[in-house]
Amino acid sequence: MVSSALPYANGHMHMGHLVEYIQSDIWARFQKLRGHQCTFVCAADAHGTPIMIKARQEGVAPEVMVTRVAKEQHDDLKAFDVAFDNFHTTHSAENQQLVYRMFEGLRAAGHIYIKTIEQAYDDQEKMFLPDRFVKGTCPRCKTEEQYGDACESCGATYSPNDLIDPVSVLSGSTPVWKESDHYFFRLSNFESQLRTWMKSAELHQHITSKLEEWFEAGLQDWDISRDAPYFGFKIPGTEDKYFYVWLDAPVGYLASFLHYCNRHDDLDFEEYWTPGHDTEVYHFIGKDIVYFHTLFWPAVLEGSGFRTPNSVFAHGFLTVNGKKMSKSRGTFIKARTYIDNLDPSHLRYYYAAKLGPGMDDVDLNLDDFVARVNSDLVGKLVNIASRCAGFISKQFDGALSPKLDDPELFSEFVDASEAIAGHYERREYSKAMRIIMTLADTANRYIEDKKPWVMSKDKGKGGEVQLVCTQGLNMFRTLMVYLAPVVPALAGKTRVLFQEDSWSWSSASNPMLGTALTEFKPLLTRVEPEQVNKMVEQSTATTDVRNTGSADTDTDEITIDDFTKVDLRVARIERAEPVDGADKLLKLTLDLGGESRTVFAGIKAAYEPQALEGRLVVAVANLKPRKMRFGMSEGMVLAAGPGGEEIFLLSADAGASPGMRVK
Ligand code: 2FM
Ligand code: ZN
Repeated sequence: MVSSALPYANGHMHMGHLVEYIQSDIWARFQKLRGHQCTFVCAADAHGTPIMIKARQEGVAPEVMVTRVAKEQHDDLKAFDVAFDNFHTTHSAENQQLVYRMFEGLRAAGHIYIKTIEQAYDDQEKMFLPDRFVKGTCPRCKTEEQYGDACESCGATYSPNDLIDPVSVLSGSTPVWKESDHYFFRLSNFESQLRTWMKSAELHQHITSKLEEWFEAGLQDWDISRDAPYFGFKIPGTEDKYFYVWLDAPVGYLASFLHYCNRHDDLDFEEYWTPGHDTEVYHFIGKDIVYFHTLFWPAVLEGSGFRTPNSVFAHGFLTVNGKKMSKSRGTFIKARTYIDNLDPSHLRYYYAAKLGPGMDDVDLNLDDFVARVNSDLVGKLVNIASRCAGFISKQFDGALSPKLDDPELFSEFVDASEAIAGHYERREYSKAMRIIMTLADTANRYIEDKKPWVMSKDKGKGGEVQLVCTQGLNMFRTLMVYLAPVVPALAGKTRVLFQEDSWSWSSASNPMLGTALTEFKPLLTRVEPEQVNKMVEQSTATTDVRNTGSADTDTDEITIDDFTKVDLRVARIERAEPVDGADKLLKLTLDLGGESRTVFAGIKAAYEPQALEGRLVVAVANLKPRKMRFGMSEGMVLAAGPGGEEIFLLSADAGASPGMRVK
């Protein structure tokens, strides 16, 4: 069983996701081509607070949103030839049944306990807040607007109650701290088993060094419950406690597999997951979720009587043109936008040419993408076939000769088989691609030397043309067998050309001789830079945001209608005073044309209070009043600049008077 990480069912597939789905799909296809029984599974990751909130914002039930999004995501993946044997959902009967079974197993074995914890609570929304739903000022570097788990500016990690001036992202109110009973999983019980597992799993050095760090720091027990309201599975015997999404997400791998087994008689789920049974399980994941998959997950499986994975393979993030994907740069590219403009085979090949077994980031350099695909796939590979196939169909009625022109040269192609297979197996795809392209160079050189286009003009050399082109086409075919896991669509067209139904890895070693070709049709077209430019243009206009580890934090776009809702007014700063206990804030009393407002502004580092009094500024007059620790803030003054001492207030025209609308 091979799995890829389950996509959260609240956003679009983008180029970052595709690194993983393409990487794992190549591996699963390779295993199948080698003759293994391999089941490739995935599912929608359906639960959790962000999904519940997103559905609420859309005004639909979470089940409805999740079903819709999962279908869109799966359709996008299919368009990239990612061929799961099963794509299920964590919001399924199979998953619930397995989660309950594992939980009961863990509880019976003494690995679960209940502890009261204190957590941020939004009194307006009447719900506990996950760390990412609390924002405030970083306690270490004092950068504002940081999430409750970590600071994006200085990298500090902390809990929400360490934040200065915390606010709930949902209502803008200041959270209160409230106690609640939570269920914990005793990860600390599993240290020695995890160390043993880590050795047997032959994890990549990038992962083992992470694990060593975590062991060194000491394993912390894991909070696996969340309070209502929550979208997930209710904990048995409770009324308002749910399993945390990260408990049921990896169980989703098994649920998808179970769902598949229930429909396929040749697979026995129970047997497959029995410890010690001769089956294999591999998970492909991103580097941000290694902790969940190499500590919690094997421990949960072990503790509840299931077999553990043979290995976990983690890849790095995607950068585009050397930087994090960005909407303003047009590099936050959705899978759909790519498909609308370009051929999926191009991207599959490009990623393969870049991928190694470790957690290094993969860079999609758009210029390099165009150059590489055109040079390797079109210029080298497909060129072999297009240079030879025409002669065979026109002059020999499609018939390949009964023998090869240069069997020794063909053996060179066959001899590379195990080296290439070894690279695929170890996920060293870039190395496999290099060998394949070097062989493509060899094939082109052979054709260049023989020059069938010259021979064909010489009546006496007809037989030789057929031999040379049969040789060329067979070298091409062998390379296409090797490349079949990477570019399955192209491999399919090649099989049509040779009139074959299917291939196994050994097909590469057995040339097609004395058989007939079908009519040759162009196999692949060049990538034109304009297509890429168009894709980038369309991505710049895109408005959806997906919260992933690899995308930067460009804000959601708003429409002109949203913008016109903002009531901008000229305001006179009547009074500006420091605030006791606040390093950055000034308390401003604004005159908005007869109406007085109090606004707390984080501009103390940039302005002396006295210098502000009497000054005209631009203010947002219709901002919902916000309760801050120091009092109610009833608006906002506009400023620009990088922060700290460099905050420049936007001034109203000299001729303006307080209360005037700013247009
Ligand atoms: O990080 C994510 O996008 C998660 N949805 C991955 C879950 S993988 C597995 F554990 F389910
Ligand atoms: Zn910080």
